[in-house]
Amino acid sequence: ITATIAGLGGWRLQQRPIRTDGGAVSGGSRSTLQIPPLAEATVDADGTRVFELTAQVGSTQFLYDTQTTTWGYNGAFGGPTLRAREGESVRVEVTNELNEVTTAHWHGMKLPAKADGGPHQPIHPGETWTAEWTVEQPAATLWYHPHNHGTTEVHVYRGLSGLFFIDDEATGTDRDPLPHDYGVDDIPVVVSDRAFLPDGSFDETHRSAAGMLGDTILVNGTVNPTFEATRAETRLRILNASTARTYRVQLDGGSLLLVGTDAGLVPEPKRVDAITLTPGERVEVIVQLEPGETKMLRSLPHTLGLLGTTERASGTRDPLDLLELSRPATSTGEPVFETLLASAGGTLAAVIPPLDEPDERRTVTMQDAKINHRRMNMSRIDEVVTVGARERWFITNEHFLAHNLHIHNARFRIVSIGGSKPAIELQGWKDTVYAPPSRTVVIDVEFGTATDPHLPYMFHCHMLQHEDQGMMAQFVVVNPGEAAGPIISPVTQD
Ligand code: C2O
Ligand code: CU
Repeated sequence: ITATIAGLGGWRLQQRPIRTDGGAVSGGSRSTLQIPPLAEATVDADGTRVFELTAQVGSTQFLYDTQTTTWGYNGAFGGPTLRAREGESVRVEVTNELNEVTTAHWHGMKLPAKADGGPHQPIHPGETWTAEWTVEQPAATLWYHPHNHGTTEVHVYRGLSGLFFIDDEATGTDRDPLPHDYGVDDIPVVVSDRAFLPDGSFDETHRSAAGMLGDTILVNGTVNPTFEATRAETRLRILNASTARTYRVQLDGGSLLLVGTDAGLVPEPKRVDAITLTPGERVEVIVQLEPGETKMLRSLPHTLGLLGTTERASGTRDPLDLLELSRPATSTGEPVFETLLASAGGTLAAVIPPLDEPDERRTVTMQDAKINHRRMNMSRIDEVVTVGARERWFITNEHFLAHNLHIHNARFRIVSIGGSKPAIELQGWKDTVYAPPSRTVVIDVEFGTATDPHLPYMFHCHMLQHEDQGMMAQFVVVNPGEAAGPIISPVTQD
């Protein structure tokens, strides 16, 4: 990771000219927030829910006078929202119409290693890869994106990513106290940033030590977006899909009611002022608006990890607008969520106590482009996890830059950060966690139950330039007493 952060000094985010596709409202300067379509699925005779995704090249108009070449699943940019239920069998057929190898990884999903879609499951141009698994986790907002070793950052940057909602028996039906009408009061908010060249193409050269930092914010692919709420309460499922940038999300003029974190709903909703989201992290919040009210969801300047200099860390000295939310004066209806929740018993998800006595303790240290002093090696198994083991991981970022850590096929709860209790927004189920320089993050990890001694899962920094540079390691899940390896994968065989 070569530091070129000096080049970021004084670099400011700009408001860009916006698309004029007829969707503009609010003084003509904003566009209606695009909502990714729900993926169509067929259900097999045996009940398996089948999705088809095609990674393809397209053209998207982000700026008013130019087209941008973009990549997307089943469209020009981004991807449809997949949705499945706990206990359901799922099959996704992913076709690669790009001219290079890609993969499709289901971030946050517990599943067999051969379905994980990491670097050991390449999809060659023109080929279709099939992933099959049974959903064995409760309601959560997960996502999917490419994970080819060495090219993950550019594949995601060019536009390949989408959401994957998991429902369970308590969610998505009439009995669910949470707003759950997709695109109406249950809204995907996929936040990312891009830099453009004068001809409208994505600038893939604007690199910092963190990775590519763009000067234009996209939400679901929309520049300067606005969303018109038709109800008193709107649930926002916010994903930081940026390859490098961290956001500190706040509602200007209001608080956020936290209802979910990366890997599940929280036990009890709590009001929070601002939420830090490093790349790959998600949060679910409820926002309340009075009739006639407009509020801005924005990102505050922050100093995370980068030498304490605000603009170097966040690329901005001023708050960044993410999404304008407004409710027409004529809209009727009162907030109902907290009343519905109270009558449903007051909790959204099971409480998760820290482990009394973990079965296994593991140490993860992070250095410049390395984990535990080693760069990623596709042929090396770094850790061996026994199925069902309750593990405590001690993660220490020994580098001076900000990093984070994501673990595949797992969810975890944070026990402590630098010896202190985690903030409210870090107390629920997680699969990705910010790793501040020089501090230790302690987590209790719960892995999926599929075993395969020959095929690894990944854990890595989710700042994708760092991941591509080798800040990634591999683990297998084995049965008790089973030996791990050698790795048998199409990638390490040739
Ligand atoms: Cu979202 Cu291993 O990645
Ligand atoms: Cu990193």
